[in-house]
Amino acid sequence: MDKFHIRGGVALKGRVSISGAKNSALPCMAAAILTPETITLHNIPYVRDIITMRRLLEDIGAHVLTPELRTHKISAANVELMQAPYELVKTMRASVLALGPLLARFGKARVSLPGGCAIGARPIDLHLASFSKMGADVFLEAGDVVARAPRDRLVGAEIQFEKISVTGTENVMMAATLARGKTVIHNAAREPEVRDLGELLNKMGARVRGAGTPKIEIEGVEALGGAQHTIIPDRIETGTFIVAGAITKGELEIKDCNPEHCNRIIGKLRDAGVEIEEVNQSTLRVSYGKPIRAADLKTEEYPGFATDMQAQYMTLMTQADGQSEITETIFENRFMHASELQRMGARIQISHDKAVVEGPTNLIGARVQASDLRASASLVLAGLIAEGETIIDRVYHIDRGYEKIETKLKAVGANIERVRESVTSPLSASQEVRG
Ligand code: EPU
Repeated sequence: MDKFHIRGGVALKGRVSISGAKNSALPCMAAAILTPETITLHNIPYVRDIITMRRLLEDIGAHVLTPELRTHKISAANVELMQAPYELVKTMRASVLALGPLLARFGKARVSLPGGCAIGARPIDLHLASFSKMGADVFLEAGDVVARAPRDRLVGAEIQFEKISVTGTENVMMAATLARGKTVIHNAAREPEVRDLGELLNKMGARVRGAGTPKIEIEGVEALGGAQHTIIPDRIETGTFIVAGAITKGELEIKDCNPEHCNRIIGKLRDAGVEIEEVNQSTLRVSYGKPIRAADLKTEEYPGFATDMQAQYMTLMTQADGQSEITETIFENRFMHASELQRMGARIQISHDKAVVEGPTNLIGARVQASDLRASASLVLAGLIAEGETIIDRVYHIDRGYEKIETKLKAVGANIERVRESVTSPLSASQEVRG
């Protein structure tokens, strides 16, 4: 397993380019299952989860060509297997995104039931209840969810999500595109990634209205066709680099991003004293002006502050003057980074869904362990300002969702090295992640 060795203390300076959003690319790749024609996706990030989704598509019989590193041409003309196996689902929960499209196009699907994961229980009951409402017979068999549509076609339905779910909304949206009649999703997730998927589906000939709002209406059509689409920039990578610039007291120009998608993140970081300038529609400049201020934070569904930026914000708050309270409302176990930050000297107290951070503290380099994707990012940020050397273990977590983070950080001055371990440790065989 690879490790990062980071020597802290360098103010980051220069330009960073933001990659495509992993959480938009994943459902868009799954959407290719809906049609026998080719879907061409541009700006796909080069990260581990994308490779896993590609494997899933190839496993079921689809062909994936990459004429360029960030372009995928996916043809699901010959799907032979309507199934996502445990080996894939256990490493990536987003594999459940295959369920909706398989069920919609072939009237049947089998996907291994994802268990809990490092950040919480994360059930998929809302996805399954929606498919049942659309007429599918959904049952559990040998650890797999099996779903079958009557006469191989789902029927449109009124879906009321009792809780907002991002992949739940995406799965139902995809399933509804080929259903008989109209589906309305109430209390839908409003994330930019949901809207991006809606755009792709409409380019394929679907009739989706309201993606990105709480009410999405989908008129089912008989068949979908090929399309080309460019994935939106990754708003969480953008936020992570804003924090990197601010926390190191540097000056970064963050290009190829979409500031509009980062409104709440930018607003909250400005509350904390970070100077962020919108240079143009795709560029932000972050610089150090005044000392970081403590500011409370509550994670929320979009357009609220993203849970995927909570860990990075916590690292920033270790440098703030005063006490800040961070409330995590989306996942029940998403403070795993706190204990590692404590090992570096941070003063953090956790109680249920709240973390109280007392700043500022001088972080000291230590050997720490990444527990999930965003937790790893918070440790990298901590390493960038810590005194001495920080060694981060299990960086495969960060490789799942950040494209070449160490290369990007090095280019703006960070002292970070990836150290490859040649001897396979017994642990590397079980990189079960389920993020
Ligand atoms: N939930 C249920 N039942 C369901 C579905 C969700 O109770 O059927 C609960 C979850 O347990 C959680 C809440 O609802 O408490 C929200 O979960 P959601 O379904 O929205 O999460 P997700 O779709 O599994 C996506 C992202 C996550 C991100 C969350 C929240 C993708 C592939 N993943 O997960 O991204 O944290 O939305 O914004 O889009 C990451 O990139 O690091 C990551 C974990």
